[in-house]
Amino acid sequence: MSDTSLRLEGPTDYEAVERLTFAAFETMELPGRTHTNEHFLAHLLRDDPGFVPELDFVAVRDGELIGSIMYSKCGIIRPDGTVSDALVFGPVSVKPELHRQGVGTLLIQHSLHRARALGYRAVLITGHPGYYHRFGFIPAGSFGLTMPNGASFDAFMALELEDGYLGTAGGKWQWCHAFDVCENDEAAFQKYQKDFTGQ
Ligand SMILES: CC(C)(COP(=O)(O)OP(=O)(O)OC[C@H]1O[C@@H](n2cnc3c(N)ncnc32)[C@H](O)[C@@H]1OP(=O)(O)O)[C@@H](O)C(=O)NCCC(=O)NCCS
Repeated sequence: MSDTSLRLEGPTDYEAVERLTFAAFETMELPGRTHTNEHFLAHLLRDDPGFVPELDFVAVRDGELIGSIMYSKCGIIRPDGTVSDALVFGPVSVKPELHRQGVGTLLIQHSLHRARALGYRAVLITGHPGYYHRFGFIPAGSFGLTMPNGASFDAFMALELEDGYLGTAGGKWQWCHAFDVCENDEAAFQKYQKDFTGQ
């Protein structure tokens, strides 16, 4: 990994990050997965008020952008109506030819370390449990947390950056607007995708 460095993303990286994100997620095989839209999420996140530029890292090797991770703020709506702040990361992407060489681990460990140093207290994600357990993530259901629709499943995971922060009161995950646009605004996605593919 000594040949790989991390730095914050800048505007000249935007297109490369979106192309990398598309390529990385095109390799993802999940039952029921119909299309790749994580590059659209990357595009939307930078303009979202919840976006955290201080945690928007890219990995570079030999001058080439080979990895990316983005964070945004999210909330946990507690049963008493109060909201606890947390973070979500994603998309996290590594150039397909370089998967399983530690680049993803480098991006995740470094950014989690920075998030803790910046005073953030918890991170919630959905992803492959087999991968994220190594970073300390456990099922979010262990903290009584659910998805916005009340569902909970193994791929929904949480990490406390401050011991005890998530507690046991539970609550519903509330992510920033970009996630909703990405999932629900088909017309906006098609418009973006048309530009992205140049067709
Ligand atoms: C997931 C991703 C970011 C990991 O980055 P990476 O650089 O390939 O991962 P690392 O080299 O740091 O870690 C490799 C380890 O992760 C495991 N791993 C990688 N992808 C995994 C997956 N999809 N499911 C389970 N384990 C996975 C490997 O088995 C390997 O385990 P080992 O160390 O025990 O051999 C990268 O594979 C990627 O871009 N994938 C496509 C996009 C994606 O799935 N993003 C995350 C969505 S949740």
